[in-house]
Amino acid sequence: MKSSELPKNGNVLVQLFMTQKTTLAVSVSEVSKNSAFWNYPLPWKYGRVYVPVEKHYPAASYAKCKEILCHMDLNKDDLAGKRVVELGTVPGGWTMVLLEQGAEVNSVDWTDLKDPWFKVHSSLRHHTMDAKIFNPVSIGILDRSEALDYVFCDLALPPVKSVDLMEMWIQNRWAERVIWTFKMGFGHEVSHALTIRGIQKCLAKYEPEFVCTIRHLYKHENEVVVLGRWTDEMRARAESKKSIVKDM
Ligand SMILES: C[S@@+](CC[C@H](N)C(=O)[O-])C[C@H]1O[C@@H](n2cnc3c(N)ncnc32)[C@H](O)[C@@H]1O
Repeated sequence: MKSSELPKNGNVLVQLFMTQKTTLAVSVSEVSKNSAFWNYPLPWKYGRVYVPVEKHYPAASYAKCKEILCHMDLNKDDLAGKRVVELGTVPGGWTMVLLEQGAEVNSVDWTDLKDPWFKVHSSLRHHTMDAKIFNPVSIGILDRSEALDYVFCDLALPPVKSVDLMEMWIQNRWAERVIWTFKMGFGHEVSHALTIRGIQKCLAKYEPEFVCTIRHLYKHENEVVVLGRWTDEMRARAESKKSIVKDM
């Protein structure tokens, strides 16, 4: 590779590998980001997001949420005032992180969020119900012409059921961005490979308009997470459809 071909900002990962005593393989990859998330190689030391320990969250899972936000390069500017549905929220680690970022959160769980901090939060609406039948249109938080900004899912569900639910959210385009965890070793799962293949098969139906990655993040133990979003072209199409409806 000529030096002129290297990225100018120096944001690259160089890897050297000796295939034989006299042969050195060199790989140079640019640290880069697409519209939805950081691509590999990741921009952090050892590719790992550093999340400080903080005691005020009701669950240690807050760190999973913060790690996801870093992988999607999302901060307060991206989340403030954004309409979020969160599925599987109790005891509320993720919910607290998202509210701290200024999001407007509709949280859904079988049980209630008990931490007193939530009682006074005006940007939170909690729905005590089965997340599998939660429909943002019939609940009245979404009108059909425009999607919510985000859906975050951390439901304790067997992956096969979770894939069906994720597909319902993607198929209906209820949210622009989809953040969806899958818990391995749950229920009647046969193998991790089959579970991943099932997730990939579902996601492949919505390419290329829906771009996504499946990641096993450092804080996520026995889980993988889908990070995905509808592309801008898809949004533009939805916008033009809306303006046609308005003009009529
Ligand atoms: C891993 S916990 C979520 C932890 C949460 N993200 C946090 O940071 O505190 C999973 C949650 O999914 C909820 N859950 C599982 N199946 C559900 C369903 N069908 N409907 C509603 N909630 C469900 C459980 O009640 C549980 O609170």
